[in-house]
Amino acid sequence: MGMTPAARLARLTDGYVVTQLLWVAAELRIADALADGPRTAEELATQVGADAGVLRRVLRGLAAEEVLEDLPDGRFALTATGRLLRDGVEGSQRGAVLARGGLYYGALAGLLDAVRDGGVPFERVHGRTFFDHLDAHPAESARFQGSMAVRAAREAAAVVEAYDFRRFRTLVDVGGGTGVLLAAILRAAPGVSAVLFDRPEVVRDAQVPHVGGDFFAEVPAGAEAYVLSRVIHDWSDADAVAILRTVRRAIPDTGTLLLVEAVLPARAADDPAAVRMDVHILTLLGGQERTAAEFAVLLDAAGFRLDRVLPTGPGSGVHVLVARTAPDRDDRSA
Ligand SMILES: C[S@@+](CC[C@H](N)C(=O)[O-])C[C@H]1O[C@@H](n2cnc3c(N)ncnc32)[C@H](O)[C@@H]1O
Repeated sequence: MGMTPAARLARLTDGYVVTQLLWVAAELRIADALADGPRTAEELATQVGADAGVLRRVLRGLAAEEVLEDLPDGRFALTATGRLLRDGVEGSQRGAVLARGGLYYGALAGLLDAVRDGGVPFERVHGRTFFDHLDAHPAESARFQGSMAVRAAREAAAVVEAYDFRRFRTLVDVGGGTGVLLAAILRAAPGVSAVLFDRPEVVRDAQVPHVGGDFFAEVPAGAEAYVLSRVIHDWSDADAVAILRTVRRAIPDTGTLLLVEAVLPARAADDPAAVRMDVHILTLLGGQERTAAEFAVLLDAAGFRLDRVLPTGPGSGVHVLVARTAPDRDDRSA
């Protein structure tokens, strides 16, 4: 039987509690502590260093959401959902939970003010931009990059499955983070000569060839393909066009631009995960997820033409948008 509207609304309203229950479990590595079998709250409290009485209430809260199972003998066991809170397992979401329950959660306190008066919720709360905040907090930055890396690994597998990179000899991954997508591309297309480009402090320790810099200023020139994965959605239309123009200056006229992004559906309920990601981006960066038509407009403004929009595997959350260079605007109007 479906929930009544009242029960559904009450549950949605308490979503803030669930986020924190999951965050506490992820911080304390509760799922890893349960990997070898069910434990009592007391056993877990000793193992992870917690107050048994408070921990029991948190564990019960997680059991109410079927993240854990409360067994008749008083022990708690992992469910298939709870297993995904473990570190390093296939499909682990621990990094995403750590980011959401910590850094993102605090930023949402600025949402109402931003809705009323504009601006970015994160900046209203912290007084500086998300990336400036990360620069000043290396531990949080490492944690954010870790969360991005897990998501990127899942997406990367789907992207190289959906798009054949063996057609290129040279490629630059712009804003490529720690190089997860690029590593997957190089595994799928070992003949490609590729460069990872991101902020200097991000690429410093990358295991692939890399260049540090600012994509508003300049990116490595002359490659056959430029990939921007989950970059454009961080930015306003004006900033996105500025980044794409930097790429346009670097790319040969025969080049291919590949955007890896969520594509917003026409109706929100058709892809709730993409719509939720749009709210995350709004909260942290003031950027936005976009529909295919909106991407086409940005690309056009930067001297590209959107050619194809390829879905990737089910549940991956991203599409590959394939664009080509368009004749220079001045040439066209001449
Ligand atoms: C949302 S992450 C996406 C990372 C990766 N491409 C992925 O798909 O997981 C955006 C990336 O843009 C990088 N970035 C932000 N500002 C930048 C700038 N001005 N120049 C170069 N990279 C920048 C960040 O360091 C970050 O790695």
